Amino acid sequence: MNEAEKRLQERYGKKLGALAAEFPWNSQLLDLLSHRSVRAYLPDPLPEGTLDVLIAAAQSAATSSNLQTWSVVAVTDPARKERLSVLAANQAHIRQCPLFLVWLADLARLRHTAQRLGLPEAGLDYLEMFVMAVVDAALAAQNAVVAAESLGLGTVYIGAMRNRPEEVAAELQLPPGVFAVFGLCLGYPDPARPAATKPRLPARAVLQRETYAPLESQEPAIEEYDQTMRAFYQQQQMAVADDWSHHSARRIAGPASLIGPRPAAGRPRPTRLRAALINPPLTAQEIPEPDAGLFLFVLNSKTRPPCSGGEPRTPACDRRTGEVELKLCY
Ligand SMILES: Cc1cc2nc3c(=O)[nH]c(=O)nc-3n(C[C@H](O)[C@H](O)[C@H](O)COP(=O)(O)O)c2cc1C
Repeated sequence: MNEAEKRLQERYGKKLGALAAEFPWNSQLLDLLSHRSVRAYLPDPLPEGTLDVLIAAAQSAATSSNLQTWSVVAVTDPARKERLSVLAANQAHIRQCPLFLVWLADLARLRHTAQRLGLPEAGLDYLEMFVMAVVDAALAAQNAVVAAESLGLGTVYIGAMRNRPEEVAAELQLPPGVFAVFGLCLGYPDPARPAATKPRLPARAVLQRETYAPLESQEPAIEEYDQTMRAFYQQQQMAVADDWSHHSARRIAGPASLIGPRPAAGRPRPTRLRAALINPPLTAQEIPEPDAGLFLFVLNSKTRPPCSGGEPRTPACDRRTGEVELKLCY
């Protein structure tokens, strides 16, 4: 088995058919196939200049209309990492890694730029711009991840940065219009606790040709993957009792399961924003005003007029139903 076949086998957790003999494999492809999240780090500092290189790589990603609606906060202060880790379900690797990057959807810079010129900037209030900023931040971050891995560093994204977004915003002093999309731990992997390549769905589940085939046609691939992952969870001694389908279904069971790990006993309860999300019956009137725009308090709290209800699809949150859900906004 050649190197490419070996990496593909690890990626899918099973031997694949023979590859096209002529395919021009290269080291970049092999590196991409070898990605794994790292959750155990050595304390070793990163070589000087690493952050600059990672940011240059991130800035080399494509960005919608060259608007560059993202920023990143680099955190190395142990006390701040500790506080951020507490805000992110107490994940130890945030404290442990020498560098923690918080990737931001950033509409503040553009707003400021337009305001400075005395030009209108109402387009920023639409969900489309927020999606654009999140996409931009994700593309930039992934470029940084690929660059880091090419340097022998390990990484793990931290979506739990969104567990308590208001407190994260306060900790990082984010201005209105800036939202922490996710964090990213970086450091040298601890060889004593190596990470395994986590298999993915068979490509035939995700790859649709020309048009999207009926969902039922994906079932055999998913069943095959369930078997692969059942074995993987056992082999890695992960706390997953069943298979990928059940595990994933639990994750989407309801608003309460969106936040990932529950706060440990004695830890603060979710914030107003989170409480609103996991409490659909809460009415808009019961939500303190900064959450009224619920669609991302941090983005909008200081810039958005209070919701008054009324016409659908206005940039303001639709309060008419009294239900508070992200999807009701915009
Ligand atoms: C946006 C995003 C957020 C994530 N958040 C977390 C997190 O909070 N904690 C964690 O341990 N892993 C997190 N991960 C890592 C995923 O669990 C991981 O990528 C996935 O299980 C696949 O494993 P692999 O990266 O090792 O291939 C996140 C990944 C992404 C892309």
